[in-house]
Amino acid sequence: MTSSSHRDFLAIPDFSSQELVALFDLAERMRRREYAARPLAGKTLAMIFMKASTRTRVSFEVGTSQLGGHALFLSPRDVQLGRGEPIADTARVLSRYVDGIMIRTFAHQDVEELARYSGVPVINGLTDLLHPCQILADLLTVRQHLGTYQGKKVTWIGDGNNMANSWINAAWRLGFELSIACPEGYEPADHLLARAQEHAKITIVRDPKEAIHGAHVVNTDVWASMGQEDEQKKREKDFAGYTVNKAMMSLADKDAIFLHCLPAHRGEEVSADVIDGPQSRVWDEAENRLHIQKAIMAVLMGGEVLS
Ligand code: CP
Ligand code: NVA
Repeated sequence: MTSSSHRDFLAIPDFSSQELVALFDLAERMRRREYAARPLAGKTLAMIFMKASTRTRVSFEVGTSQLGGHALFLSPRDVQLGRGEPIADTARVLSRYVDGIMIRTFAHQDVEELARYSGVPVINGLTDLLHPCQILADLLTVRQHLGTYQGKKVTWIGDGNNMANSWINAAWRLGFELSIACPEGYEPADHLLARAQEHAKITIVRDPKEAIHGAHVVNTDVWASMGQEDEQKKREKDFAGYTVNKAMMSLADKDAIFLHCLPAHRGEEVSADVIDGPQSRVWDEAENRLHIQKAIMAVLMGGEVLS
């Protein structure tokens, strides 16, 4: 059985540019508490977490409840998926009970397979390839503090990981400039980059100082993502010189903001005086996860129309 006509959110380009703008508008109404509807009343979101989470778990669970619905936390220790039940079977069974599925896992193909066999909307809560909800929250934070992402230069310093890949997808859809600095061997996904570079100015350089020059948004992430813990020591060597510290920030635009999806390793990818300093917007960024995901769920699961 393949899926019915539901709409998933697996990657940022699943929404058109116009829809993304409407989604941000809706999330901002939610942040301003101007949205009182409860489009998820009587509905349930299943949340599958094959990896740890603080922000994603809590923001989806609280967000579902604020929209009138109920969220179920499913960990591999408790559900049969953790004992090898096929994803396709899990998708078909869950679809008979719930109205949406959020999943955080390793292989992106697993999320695509889940969506293929699910009869209800599937939302990507992070894979090794992408972290789309986070980047939408980041863009919401950019709108909140800089007014717009249009005409801004966004810099990514560090690993070409799920975050970097989602920034590439966002630049493709929304057309802002993206400058990525990563060491050799840590580049973002080729296929996403090639597609996006046809429409947006995206550069990959080795020198973080070059990438950050004049940037309006400075973004980094841990050097070893979940599942890469064994590579921590090697990565610390390979990423030497990539710490976002005050000297590095001084090369950005004077009104630049610093973003980090969290959790952060102070003293590694970012210095404490930057992440805890005046240009940091990481707490608003974390809060914005709640607002943007509520907007996504209202649209995908609650019949809210983007206009
Ligand atoms: N940024 C983020 O996704 O955080 P969690 O891993 O805590 O969900
Ligand atoms: N790149 C990080 C993001 C965590 C929210 C990871 O995948 O672990």
